[in-house]
Amino acid sequence: MASSAKKVLVPVANGTEPLEAVVMIYVLRRSGAEVTVASVEKQLQVDACHGVKFVADSLLSDCSDAVFDLIMLPGGLPGGETLKNCGVLENMVKKQDAEGRLNGAICCAPALALGSWGLLKGRKATCYPVFMEQLASCATAVESRVVIDGKIVTSRGPGTTLEFSVSLVEQLYGKEKANEAVERSLLRPNPGEDYTFIELNQTKWTFDGSTPQVILPIADGSEETEAVGLIDILRRAKAKVVVAAVGNSLEVVGSWKVKLVADVLLADAEILTYDLIVLPGGLVGAQTFASCGKLVNMLKKQAESNKPYGAICAPSALVLEPHGLLKGKKATTNPSFCEKLSDKSHIEYRVVVDGNLVTSRGPGTTMEFALAIIEKFFGREKGLEIAKATLL
Ligand SMILES: *[C@@H]1O[C@H](CO)[C@@H](O)[C@H](O)[C@H]1NC(C)=O
Ligand SMILES: *[C@@H]1O[C@H](CO)[C@@H](O)[C@H](O)[C@H]1NC(C)=O
Repeated sequence: MASSAKKVLVPVANGTEPLEAVVMIYVLRRSGAEVTVASVEKQLQVDACHGVKFVADSLLSDCSDAVFDLIMLPGGLPGGETLKNCGVLENMVKKQDAEGRLNGAICCAPALALGSWGLLKGRKATCYPVFMEQLASCATAVESRVVIDGKIVTSRGPGTTLEFSVSLVEQLYGKEKANEAVERSLLRPNPGEDYTFIELNQTKWTFDGSTPQVILPIADGSEETEAVGLIDILRRAKAKVVVAAVGNSLEVVGSWKVKLVADVLLADAEILTYDLIVLPGGLVGAQTFASCGKLVNMLKKQAESNKPYGAICAPSALVLEPHGLLKGKKATTNPSFCEKLSDKSHIEYRVVVDGNLVTSRGPGTTMEFALAIIEKFFGREKGLEIAKATLL
């Protein structure tokens, strides 16, 4: 039987904004689409912005004859320039448009790629704020988080990617599927408003040296939007984030099949004290964390010495709770794991800080979670600055 799944292409390059790429892949795959992540470089592995490394599913040159229901262009620099300069991609996107199929672009890509290819003439579109002037020369530029004009959908930046992806799910599958995507991803009910979090037992988070040293473990089955979102946002604040693979390979396959490349193996990590240990979600990844003795010991030492630690999504319930690391603390977790928390009083909050512990809920709360961490280390002004730059 022929597959009836909608086919989606996400082209990526070195210097692609990884948070945008990964959120698109997550939302579309979770909604049932068959997503091909295609490198426009000469090799599958791309070095995305903020030192995030991931491996594409194929080279664009190997899928240039395929027919897609949707082509989605992520932003980031110089990735956006590379997409624009890729003749194969330009032809695919133009053909897509000429044949009445969907194209989407976010961040710098509407102006750099779609606009300079002449696809936005007479159409309404939006893009990342600093590219609006350039966009205005090739489109009717609109300041809106997501703009739909016929078969072209455009949007603004990392913090609008979830809304952008959901609106493309609606275009492909209809309103009901889009509503499901909103609910499951825990999309913010108030996009564009200042981020908030609840804080109990307020303490000052400190760090040795010039910037916080953060360790972020990943494993097969880790939730890639949460992992990449944390790496991306924390590195924007100049925190030093070490991505440590729990297992035998630096390459890890996330819960939505994105192949991420870690900086080190946790087994080889010699430095064992960090200013923050933070766990991304994903059921299978969390199970691996829970059974990794070295990681559990690091977390216990962290808690004993009153240093910051945290988790988003499953690991609050599957790692911290069973190892006694939520004792006497308020925490939240993903809706699917709430039953496993012994204290459920704070599960409805999107981000909870209790002293040196920070917890959160799922893909759609990742940026708020990362911003709460930044605020604890650097102050609210820094958090708001990064929220503004990322258009949360
Ligand atoms: C892109 O990144 C890859 C992977 O690290 C690297 O091997 C390659 O040389 C880079 N390509 C360009 C054009 O810089
Ligand atoms: C933390 O704050 C809560 C609520 O204000 C309070 O009931 C609790 O005793 C505090 N815990 C500690 C360890 O101070």
